[in-house]
Amino acid sequence: MKSFLSVENLTQRYPDGAGGTLTVFEDASFGIEKGEFVVILGHSGCGKSTIMNILAGLSDPSSGVVKMDGYAVSGPSLDRGVVFQNYSLLPWLSALANVTFGVQARYRDWSRARVVEESKKYLAMVGLEGDVLNRKPAQLSGGMRQRVSIARAFANHPKLLLLDEPFGALDALTRGTIQDELLKIWAGTEQTVFMITHDIDEAILLADRILLMTNGPFARVAESVEITIPRPRTRTGIVDHPNYYAIRNHLVHFLGQRSRDLAGRVEGGTPPPETVRLDVTGGEPDAEAEPAPRLRAVNH
Ligand SMILES: Nc1ncnc2c1ncn2[C@@H]1O[C@H](COP(=O)(O)OP(=O)(O)O)[C@@H](O)[C@H]1O
Ligand SMILES: [Mg+2]
Repeated sequence: MKSFLSVENLTQRYPDGAGGTLTVFEDASFGIEKGEFVVILGHSGCGKSTIMNILAGLSDPSSGVVKMDGYAVSGPSLDRGVVFQNYSLLPWLSALANVTFGVQARYRDWSRARVVEESKKYLAMVGLEGDVLNRKPAQLSGGMRQRVSIARAFANHPKLLLLDEPFGALDALTRGTIQDELLKIWAGTEQTVFMITHDIDEAILLADRILLMTNGPFARVAESVEITIPRPRTRTGIVDHPNYYAIRNHLVHFLGQRSRDLAGRVEGGTPPPETVRLDVTGGEPDAEAEPAPRLRAVNH
C-alpha cells in the first residue's frame, strides 16, 4: 500500500557559488503514514529545511516528486500547515485574530462565533486564555508567540503539519512545557506531523519514528528508528523505560559518528532508509496480529 505521504527520488541541487553544483541530497525516498508523528534528525546544513520547504510546496525540488493522498504536491495549500522557528505571526493582529484568521479562511461557511470558539479552544490547549488573547505578537514572550503558532496550525486541521525546529529559539524550561502541550494537542487529533529538530531528547519524546540523516552534501535518510516507548509519554517518565537508553545511545552515536562515516554519495544509487527497532523488553512484533491502535491518551 502507498503511504499517505510519499517522497519519491527527491533531489536538490544548488549552484555552489564557485561555478559548480552543490547536491544537497539525491534520490531521497521515504513515506509517512496517516496520523504518524515523524521527526527528522540531522546536523545543520544536511538539508532538513530544504525537504520541509518542498513538502510545504514553498520550493520545487531539482527532480523527484512528493505525493500526498496520491496527488503530487505543488504550491502551498491549507492542507499543509507550517510552523517555523521564527513564529511568523501577523504582527498587526492580536493573538486571537492570528488564529481566527486562518480558521475563517479554512471554514468559510462558519459563523463568526463558531470561528472564535474553535480558535479559543486551541489557544486554551496551549495555555493561552483571557486578556492575553487580545495582545499583539510584540507584546507576547517568545514562548507565547510559539504557542499561538502551534494553536493556529492545529486549529486549521491541515492534512499534514510541518514543524521546522519550532522550539529552537526558546529557553529549555519553556521548550519543555510547550513540548508537553504539543503532545497533548496532538493526542486529541488524528494529525499527521512531520517535524525537524536537532535535539535528540525532543525527538524521542515526540516521535513515533525518527528519520536519521547523514551529513551533506549528498545527504540521505539512512535509518528510520522506531520509538519503542509507549504513549502517553512525559519527559520525566520516558527515562525510566528500559528502551530509552538503547534508543538514545543509538541516536547519539549516529549523530556523533555514523552521520559522518556514512556521508557522501552511494555508488549504485541511494538505498532506502533501513528500519531500526530497538526493544530490550523482548516484545517481538507479531507479524500475524492486527497492528495495535496507536495510543493517543492525553498526558497527565
Ligand atoms: N537557496 C539556496 N541556494 C543555495 N544553497 C542553499 C539554498 N538553500 C539552502 N542551501 C544549502 O543547502 C544546504 C542545506 O540547507 P538546509 O536545508 O537549510 O539545511 P538544514 O535545515 O538541515 O540545516 C546547505 O548547505 C545550504 O547552504
Ligand atoms: Mg534548517
